[in-house]
Amino acid sequence: MTTFAATRPTGARHELYRDLILQARGLFEGERDPIANAAYLAALIGFGLDDLNWSGFYFLRDGELVLGPFQGKPACVRIALGKGVCGTAAERRETVIVPDVHAFPGHIACDAASRSEIVVPLVKDGRLIGVLDLDAPIPDRFDEADARGLEALAALWIAASDEL
Ligand code: SME
Repeated sequence: MTTFAATRPTGARHELYRDLILQARGLFEGERDPIANAAYLAALIGFGLDDLNWSGFYFLRDGELVLGPFQGKPACVRIALGKGVCGTAAERRETVIVPDVHAFPGHIACDAASRSEIVVPLVKDGRLIGVLDLDAPIPDRFDEADARGLEALAALWIAASDEL
């Protein structure tokens, strides 16, 4: 049986992600349900990283991003492609880091506490299937180490999970 890690990883940011990746691998062992694995990953990230107020998934449904498993305050349920940080990352199929959400035109304020944000697109076999979104209550929270670490965690979730 897989148990939820009770310890917060410590250390430099890339080492922290190495620990999270190891924990995610353990969590995904023997489980291929995409929703269960997304819920686990949202919790793992929300618990494992400092200075976050939201971590979770949006899935592409009929051309729109629809809220998936998350940790944080209730958030916007539907986001159109091209809208907000999530829709922008989804449309570009690129990780988007926003150091100051107030300076990002079109940012969708689900939680007024959010000051910076990172969104990683989820692309499986060349198809966009959703995004992984993290919000922070402090400006400039996310850097390239977060981008690479979260992309690795997203890739692990895609590989470990059946079709949505
Ligand atoms: N801020 C996001 C919306 C989702 S919430 O942050 C959970 C955006 O601009 O797309």
